[in-house]
Amino acid sequence: MMIICGHHQKVGYQENGEGAYDLAFLPRGKRMAGTGSFSEILDGENNVYKYYSEGEWRKSVSGKSVAIVNPTTRKTQYKVQACSQAEVNKVMEAAKIAQKAWAKTPLWKRAELLHKAAAILKEHKHPIAECLVKEIAKPAKDSVTEVVRSGDLISYCAEEGVRILGQGTFLVSDSFPGNERTKYCLASKVPLGVVLAIPPFNYPVNLAVSKIAPALIAGNSIVLKPPTQGAVSCLHMVHCFHLAGFPKSLINCVTGKGSEIGDFLTMHPGVNCISFTGGDTGISISKKAGMIPLQMELGGKDACIVLEDADLDLAAANIVKGGLSYSGQRCTAVKIVLVMESVADALMEKVNAKVAKLTVGPPEEDCDITPVVSESSANFIEGLVMDAKEKGATFCQTYKREGNLIWPLLLDNVRADMRIAWEEPFGPVLPVIRIGSVEEGINHCNASNFGLQGCVFTKDINKAMIISDAMETGTVQINSAPARGPDHFPFQGLKDSGIGSQGITNSINMMVKVKSTVINLPTASYTMG
Ligand code: G3H
Repeated sequence: MMIICGHHQKVGYQENGEGAYDLAFLPRGKRMAGTGSFSEILDGENNVYKYYSEGEWRKSVSGKSVAIVNPTTRKTQYKVQACSQAEVNKVMEAAKIAQKAWAKTPLWKRAELLHKAAAILKEHKHPIAECLVKEIAKPAKDSVTEVVRSGDLISYCAEEGVRILGQGTFLVSDSFPGNERTKYCLASKVPLGVVLAIPPFNYPVNLAVSKIAPALIAGNSIVLKPPTQGAVSCLHMVHCFHLAGFPKSLINCVTGKGSEIGDFLTMHPGVNCISFTGGDTGISISKKAGMIPLQMELGGKDACIVLEDADLDLAAANIVKGGLSYSGQRCTAVKIVLVMESVADALMEKVNAKVAKLTVGPPEEDCDITPVVSESSANFIEGLVMDAKEKGATFCQTYKREGNLIWPLLLDNVRADMRIAWEEPFGPVLPVIRIGSVEEGINHCNASNFGLQGCVFTKDINKAMIISDAMETGTVQINSAPARGPDHFPFQGLKDSGIGSQGITNSINMMVKVKSTVINLPTASYTMG
């Protein structure tokens, strides 16, 4: 029997009559989204959050706003400015100028400011977590974790930047055939210019700072375009950088409709680099963007291969956590289980027992399964479930949906002709394919258009290594579910899962270009032996 976090408990979840919910999960005195230190980011008169440009919080001249619907209540929770293209132009111009000065700011000073921003962000974890709960229905504790993790990411990035940007390469010419030692090459890393950062709804704070911090430490300026769901969390996070005292126009945040400013931003001549995380919109961005470096992470269909000798308790725990945490709305979620037929019944029994213990309900109550981000997302998930039903998948639980809330569902005996075998639901629905051989599992994994991560459960490290090498994914986890973190690990997708590699070090290196200065000597100069 699944446990339902319920309204009947009246703990931390009471409608206030306006469709908003009281957040009793927050410690007293800490319910501060849009208040206290954050009051200047809200246009209180119209109840619309402002955008951030030239070091100030501003109302758009468009006079229009974009509504953000709370996934739990399905009512408007917040509003943000609908910026115009003219406002984007102004931001771009100012960001270009600010970047030139920032590039001349000593590296240690850049790091110092980042450390300050990290501390302020962590100090304000509760109001920012409150926004995450309301905008994207992330469970309360996970929301706090996202903010703290983001502060840690910024600090690590500052330290890593000081190390790797403080070093360059020195080359001498006589190592290449035909050359005397007449040329000394000094290669260093210089900023790209203006970085356009576009994070997704599921980690609006963490995946924003994973772009902002590397860009800033490397001497770039930032234009941030938050996702609609998650925009207010992003605005609060940006205010922490503002409070830290970064120079004006170095960090900018524009909100608005994708149809008005989406393409305008990604095709803007002032942009020198795009770092995007999201869905297949990234593919069209990459086709339209100019000749600039791109960093893209566009989702995955991460496979979990379970061999006959696997520790089934460990595999079951990772399948449930990896597949269903944040209701499956993670690009690295386990999205297909490929289990050897001989252990499939035993594994499914363990997995189903764990699924039965999951709590289902509102994020304020910290339930395991919370409403998915939007009605259209819930409809899409339902479409995949119905397709699997028509084609004969075994339902391990009864399919249940209330509004955007979908109860966790395991689909056994899934076959390759079902959509769920290939498409990512981004919801709490997990398909299982029973396989007769390891090759069958690897072939299924490699036939996917995605290639983000995968995992294999076995006690035989030799087999695990062979399978890891055979899987066409950016990362393979051995005996654990796929995951991006720790945030300094390289993180990359193959095929439609992305371009380039992330992780703190790789992101810093991606946001710089190499500049060489060559000293030419009139006569060869050799060092003393
Ligand atoms: O949704 C995409 C994220 O990069 C996944 O991050 O593995 O920390 O949940 P995570």
